Amino acid sequence: MLQKVFILAVSVVTIFGCNNDVEKEMPSTNSNVWFQEPHRPQIHFTPQANWMNDPNGMVYYDGEYHLFYQYYPDSTVWGPMHWGHAVSTDLVHWEHLPIALYPDSLGYIFSGSAVVDHNNSSGLGKDGKPALIAIFTHHDAEGEKAGRNDFQYQSIAYSNDKGRTWTKYEGNPVVPNEKPIRDFRDPKVIWDEMHQQWLMVFAAADRVMFWTSNNLIDWKNTGEFGADVGGHGGVWECPDLFPIQVKETGDTKWVLLLSINPGGPNSGSATQYFVGDFDGNQFTLDPSFVRKVENGRGEWIDYGRDNYAGVTWSDLPRSDHRKIFLGWMSNWDYAQVVPTKNWRSAMTVPREITLHFEDEYYLTFNPVKELKTLYKSEKPDFVGELGKTKISVANPSHIELELPDGKRGGWQLTFSNDKGEEYSLSYDRETNLFSSDRRKSGATAFSEKFAAAVHTGKRASQNYNIPLDIYLDHASIEIFADNGRTVFTEIFFPESPYTTMELRGVEGDVVVHALQSIWEK
Ligand code: FRU
Repeated sequence: MLQKVFILAVSVVTIFGCNNDVEKEMPSTNSNVWFQEPHRPQIHFTPQANWMNDPNGMVYYDGEYHLFYQYYPDSTVWGPMHWGHAVSTDLVHWEHLPIALYPDSLGYIFSGSAVVDHNNSSGLGKDGKPALIAIFTHHDAEGEKAGRNDFQYQSIAYSNDKGRTWTKYEGNPVVPNEKPIRDFRDPKVIWDEMHQQWLMVFAAADRVMFWTSNNLIDWKNTGEFGADVGGHGGVWECPDLFPIQVKETGDTKWVLLLSINPGGPNSGSATQYFVGDFDGNQFTLDPSFVRKVENGRGEWIDYGRDNYAGVTWSDLPRSDHRKIFLGWMSNWDYAQVVPTKNWRSAMTVPREITLHFEDEYYLTFNPVKELKTLYKSEKPDFVGELGKTKISVANPSHIELELPDGKRGGWQLTFSNDKGEEYSLSYDRETNLFSSDRRKSGATAFSEKFAAAVHTGKRASQNYNIPLDIYLDHASIEIFADNGRTVFTEIFFPESPYTTMELRGVEGDVVVHALQSIWEK
């Protein structure tokens, strides 16, 4: 399959020409160098070639997890947006499929979501089988250039063949931009079981809007949220609103994820969240959460700089009660200039979201258990104490640590290669802050914003050991501290992958598992 898609990509490039250098640098069709280039992630989804940003339309249907994504097939920088497409049967290994949605007379295909229309409420199903419905923003670049304000609106497309081919609905857009509002985009739709309706949330300037429907075609605006709440340092994008059970009490609350660019806790793009209730029309913050977001402060899903525009999967099998999240592992501050050759950007690993209540509501994000199927062997590569000597680690690998909270001051955990390049995470007990430092991580000169500062995140508790769950790859690290309460997702570009790990300040227990590449056949 990979090969087929690639031949198609090359012939399209050859027929229509290509105004950049990518074509010349592409390996030939029968070469096996794909996914082995410098900085190519080994356990993260990447497109075979060219530009990718937000994950879109994540939906599970008939044994397949679909991943669509913002894609520009003609260059390694952002351009007229398409929806790229891949499928997986295990959330770990991905098969690249042909582009699902192309720009059309209504505009580029911006971010959005997809659902299974189980009851054929739209009438777009066929032969008794439900349609897959994609809901996305049409972005009219011409209109924008002409200085209009109504250049974004919500449209739908449907598929009757497991997402392989798509037809745009002839009555598009289904949510025109009447007011108009300049930033009016990124619809995320769910079936709202509690209120028996389709529910759409999207970003509209400095707030989000809620719209409901019985058939995915006719929509009614029921409410909005956020004009004076949370972080407002930039434009609001890619919201996701969903109900979730509170782990400790079994109650149901509603969570709103919201990306913002710029204005993140460590600058640039980042994703904040809110916990509250939804009455079928309006979202209200839980009173206990109001305190948390007073003074324009946000609560953030990640304190690293490379987790943006993430949303959750639709229609997981009924037996799977998880909420599974995937983010774009980059940052608009530098995404278009990172030093990768044939492609740009990767996705985070899929993460399970849990809502907790202990004095207050908070979310945890943890890597999905499916990733453990990548273990090269059940027996760990290393089990023991870390602290006195450096140890070698495989890359990619999964590393679990249990560290004291550092009563004597703190600790520093460093990953390095033999070129003297390194990434470190440290913890300072005095300030109770984690610091993530990629200033000497490898190539950094491509953007002044990439390695200008360390990235900090406050630890929520103290006086307990700190468990760290880490996924290390050639060009990224994802650190889930305190069972996913504080997360750091960071990309980097060392000359060779990090294969040494060292701990200073304390001693702690470590288990390392080498991982297989997801592209290994
Ligand atoms: C977020 C975003 C979305 C938009 C898309 C365009 O990264 O700006 O708001 O739909 O990217 O590619």
